[in-house]
Amino acid sequence: MQHTNLNQYDKLSKVFHWITAIAVAIAFVLGPGDFGRLLHNGIDPGTRIDIVWHESLGVTIFTLTLLRLVWATVRPVAPRPQMTAWMRFLSQLVHLVLWVLLFALPITALLALGTEGHPLTLLGGFRINELPFIANAHLSGLADWGDVHKFLGDVIMWLAGIHALAAVYHHVKLKDGVLKSMLP
Ligand code: HEM
Ligand code: HEM
Repeated sequence: MQHTNLNQYDKLSKVFHWITAIAVAIAFVLGPGDFGRLLHNGIDPGTRIDIVWHESLGVTIFTLTLLRLVWATVRPVAPRPQMTAWMRFLSQLVHLVLWVLLFALPITALLALGTEGHPLTLLGGFRINELPFIANAHLSGLADWGDVHKFLGDVIMWLAGIHALAAVYHHVKLKDGVLKSMLP
């Protein structure tokens, strides 16, 4: 039998959660109003430290989320504090949508870069000038992925904000240990 503390997420789940939350917040703040315009005007993103950081954080989030998904299938059971059925449903729905967004953000970004022929530029001078695999994909023509990406960026911040408020509400009003279950 594996020993688990039923009131707490395991350590690795907490590490994934908090690194991701911080990285998403910074990536969002760095995603300045006119990334898209700069790129369309032919600015080389490799010369813009904010874009390089944004893309590096985004790729890191993508990698972490993939690893986290693998971990979520094998980790000790997540805590299940007592709550009403509708509250459990709502919280699981929000978690699910957050998970989907953590994948959808990097994917829409790569689709946008590939479709528009912009390079992927990361810290350390790493650079991929073209993503022909993406540029030629059928999916690429189906939307303005840059716009979709921007929209999803706003959605994840709103949802994460509501999710954080809910956690504080659990702590202050319901006193049910939900917030503590994810704290170090
Ligand atoms: C996963 C977390 C991410 C978040 C929260 C996020 C958020 C945002 C936001 C809010 C914008 C809008 C900026 C604007 O108004 O122009 C944006 C734009 C952009 N992001 Fe991200 N992003 C993420 C990941 C990525 C990744 C992984 C890449 C690259 C591989 C990337 C590349 C871009 C690019 C190129 C734009 C400009 C899009 C365009 O207008 O054509 N982002 N991002
Ligand atoms: C961008 C920011 C955030 C994202 C993307 C995010 C995402 C997630 C996800 C996907 C889960 C499910 C975890 C799992 O199954 O391992 C979760 C759980 C949790 N998060 Fe966040 N989160 C963010 C920010 C925050 C903040 C700021 C707080 C606290 C103020 C918070 C508190 C919690 C708590 C307490 C849980 C456990 C809830 C439960 O089991 O019902 N999160 N979060």
